[in-house]
Amino acid sequence: MNRYLIAGNWKMNTDINEAVTLSKGICEKQFKSNVNVVLGVPFTHIYSVNEIVQNTDVSVSAQNCYFMEKGAYTGEVSPVMLKSLGVSYTIVGHSERRQYFFETDDDINKKVKLLLKEGIIPIICVGETIEQREKGNYKDVIKNQLEKCLNEVNSIKNIVIAYEPVWAIGTGKTATSDEAEEVCMFIRTLLKEKYNKEAEEIFILYGGSMNKSNAKELLEKSNINGGLIGGASLKVDDFIEIINSCQ
Ligand code: PGA
Repeated sequence: MNRYLIAGNWKMNTDINEAVTLSKGICEKQFKSNVNVVLGVPFTHIYSVNEIVQNTDVSVSAQNCYFMEKGAYTGEVSPVMLKSLGVSYTIVGHSERRQYFFETDDDINKKVKLLLKEGIIPIICVGETIEQREKGNYKDVIKNQLEKCLNEVNSIKNIVIAYEPVWAIGTGKTATSDEAEEVCMFIRTLLKEKYNKEAEEIFILYGGSMNKSNAKELLEKSNINGGLIGGASLKVDDFIEIINSCQ
């Protein structure tokens, strides 16, 4: 596969002015045509950033959603609302949501199904903790997360998977390219069992302290089709350098 997807995950960073400056800065740059560039912005900035990315090759992603279409769920945001804003992607199951907001694979599965119904591409995050890695059962953890998150999902044509080892997120401690490739290949093999050819075309991203120095080596691996970038997506030049690390 000669296409890449580089998604920024801004997390709970930037005020609206900073978000406008950052997204304009990114949209003004030239990047390779075989890279889908996605900005995962806070809910409050989606409308403004989406205006900025119009007529560019950059798309907007939300960082979460609720699994109901509408109703008395104070404070929540539904995929229907996101669709009406022009959102193309939504990150679901990020480890910070699992850890701080107690999201389960079952919740994530419901979100995935509703997003697909609305025509939004879910970026499903999976990954093991440091304890699970040290115990050696990290592949079982990934398999279990994937199976549950994709329960009753018949096609992965409009899905992206992000492998994000929890121990590498925001820690500056990246998985080596071999460690990342091992799990990304494992994910693709698992998906092949259920989805056959679609598994060859799905974007599998690596996330966890990816930066301009390590991106090229990670992106050279055949089962890593892009990155989900936190910290380094908040600086225009760093983010562009990562995009341009794609071959
Ligand atoms: P990081 O975050 O690049 O800051 O480690 C990645 C992520 O959480 O998606």
